[in-house]
Amino acid sequence: MKLIVFIAFALFVTTFAKKLDEKYMWKELDFAWPSEEVKQAAIKSGRYIESHNLPLGLEVWKDKMFITVPRWKGGVASSLNYFKINDERSPVLIPYPSWEANQLPESEQTTQASYGGGRTDAKEAEKADNLLAKNNETIISTFRIRADDCDRLWVMDSGLADILGSPKQWAPNSIAVFDLNTDKLIRRFVIPEDQVKEDSFFANIIIDTQASDCSNAFAYLPDLGSYAVVVYDFKNDKSYRVKHNFFHFDPLQGDLTVGGVNFQWTDGVFGMALGTPTNEHGDRTVYFHALASTKEFSVPNTVLKNETFATSGDSYYAYTLLGDRGTKSQATAEFYDEKTDVIFYTQINRDAIGCWNIKKPYTPENQGLVDSDSHTLVFPNDLKVDDKGNLYVLSDRMPLFIYKNLEPGYNYRILTGKTEEVIVGTPCENAVQ
Ligand SMILES: *[C@@H]1O[C@H](CO)[C@@H](O)[C@H](O)[C@H]1NC(C)=O
Ligand SMILES: *[C@@H]1O[C@H](CO)[C@@H](O)[C@H](O)[C@H]1NC(C)=O
Repeated sequence: MKLIVFIAFALFVTTFAKKLDEKYMWKELDFAWPSEEVKQAAIKSGRYIESHNLPLGLEVWKDKMFITVPRWKGGVASSLNYFKINDERSPVLIPYPSWEANQLPESEQTTQASYGGGRTDAKEAEKADNLLAKNNETIISTFRIRADDCDRLWVMDSGLADILGSPKQWAPNSIAVFDLNTDKLIRRFVIPEDQVKEDSFFANIIIDTQASDCSNAFAYLPDLGSYAVVVYDFKNDKSYRVKHNFFHFDPLQGDLTVGGVNFQWTDGVFGMALGTPTNEHGDRTVYFHALASTKEFSVPNTVLKNETFATSGDSYYAYTLLGDRGTKSQATAEFYDEKTDVIFYTQINRDAIGCWNIKKPYTPENQGLVDSDSHTLVFPNDLKVDDKGNLYVLSDRMPLFIYKNLEPGYNYRILTGKTEEVIVGTPCENAVQ
């Protein structure tokens, strides 16, 4: 009898894809405050406004789950955080690398009164310089982060706080790199002013390196607001700005409806995924897409890593259109899973997670639906796959947070699933088993 049940169960699981599990969920984010007094004082002064803390990006390294909380609004307790992966439902966030590094000066709360006018800007720029000069570990505001194969955490810090209120540039756009084994800052790189344009917005960071050669590393920083990719060369500690028509958005695909809120975005190049290295030099394919678009493109990493070539018009034809995912398939993040040869991506206009097996042509028919849920997957914002083949998805209803108000209840979630299991029964499964 037991055996029959087991066989029936085995048949069941191999025939139907497993849905994602809701592993963590929060009504509001709380933090590991130094003390209850500090927390109460922060609430009183407005330095901590619970409902303004929206989780956005995630990354997994060993038993740490990193969570970013961008400073969209005032009152964000800490922008870069982690918790230990465990069975708690709503873990408290621990600031990384420290509380101190995540604190803005006291005057943050007085910007409302003093904001506006050129004089303030000049004064603020001066302060901004001081902020990183005082403590180069300071994390002002980060959207996405990436842990590489060399146990380093790369943080794209926009330096901008209170984006939706009284925006304040506390420091220039920069990359901070931490050694995850010692939690020490090993590099801070400020993106040169001439590579940052008026509408530049750096909300993602992708790292191209290999454990066999850690000094040789490149960071790709999609500029979704100004349609370019800034490439940072770690070894030579310099960056350059790469432009291409394929980094732009599709004017017909910027109309989005999420959680009942309709809005129009013009976000260009955003999601990027790296394929498997094909040789000892680490040559591989870089897949990418604009957010306001349903198309996917690719370019060899050798193109992006070669400054002369990448910044010359000669590289135009090195970029390839792979295809179109079909209607309403706009995506934020994407991630390649070596185990299954599948790229997973978010589907913000469908409350869903999609997939594509890179061995198949890029057509709407070959796009798989991993999961879709108008309750738990409203605005899947970020996703990653760890080295054990676990897919992690963070959903946060961000458009409601930005344009309306979040309703009370569980708004923030991390869902998980085994990559091999969640693609069962979808076109992302390998044709040959
Ligand atoms: C950060 O600042 C400290 C103190 O000025 C300095 O010793 C250290 O080299 C800096 N670290 C980086 C990565 O710039
Ligand atoms: C970079 O591209 C140029 C062509 O623009 C080529 O001559 C050169 O060999 C390339 N460099 C490397 C390191 O591949």
